[in-house]
Amino acid sequence: MGYEFEPKILGFLCNWCCYAGADLAGVSRYQYPTNMRIIRVMCSGRVDPAFILRAFSNGMDGVFVGGCWLGECHYVTEGNYEALSVMHICKKLLKLIGVNPERLRLEWVSASQGIRFAEVITDFVKKLKELGPLGIGEGIDADGLKLKFEAVRSLVPYIKLVERERLRVHFETEDEYDKFFSSEEVDRLFRELIVDKLTISQILLLLRERPLSTGEISEILGLSQSEVSRYLNSSAKDGLVRFDEVQKCFVPV
Ligand code: FES
Repeated sequence: MGYEFEPKILGFLCNWCCYAGADLAGVSRYQYPTNMRIIRVMCSGRVDPAFILRAFSNGMDGVFVGGCWLGECHYVTEGNYEALSVMHICKKLLKLIGVNPERLRLEWVSASQGIRFAEVITDFVKKLKELGPLGIGEGIDADGLKLKFEAVRSLVPYIKLVERERLRVHFETEDEYDKFFSSEEVDRLFRELIVDKLTISQILLLLRERPLSTGEISEILGLSQSEVSRYLNSSAKDGLVRFDEVQKCFVPV
């Protein structure tokens, strides 16, 4: 019999709704796959981008966040709207590093929806089986994946700042969030504020391992030599890297 891939999933479930829904699914004996390990949080708004990225870099094939339906969060701060923004931002970050954003899923499940919980988990596992193991499904090797997640994780404090300053929005419906986060304005903001920093962060991580030439970096990152030169020049101006005349390579400062 052939090996069947069983995705590993980490789930962050809100205590007041989705966690209770999962409990109800259990006591009601609804059948669903057992691929998910659960972390109970007090609100879906507590789930930080760092938690999601750490779960992926620790080898999870999928991350699930379950919260109360919009308008039903138990806190005045309405954390599930915050969770919605975090999901959109994390999906964009995953896309930027070449990871399928469908590996991250946010669902609303109330305490009385045991059957819905079983259904969404069944569907998520099915989707992840189609996508295959993290990295292999994307055609990224293990070292490349590690580098990308390390680079993006190092930017989390900056990304949170960008979120607070430029992406803090409050809409009433999910459609409005979808529209906003898929707008040209947000894409441009990501390009201007995050893409360059992400590439520079990858270059610095590579140079921390060993001195590299422009050509070697361009080969590893799949970028043209002129693009890499541009990043190296700006990093040199910022005092982050320097060219070592003896080794004829770039080294971190
Ligand atoms: Fe459940 Fe906030 S309390 S999402």
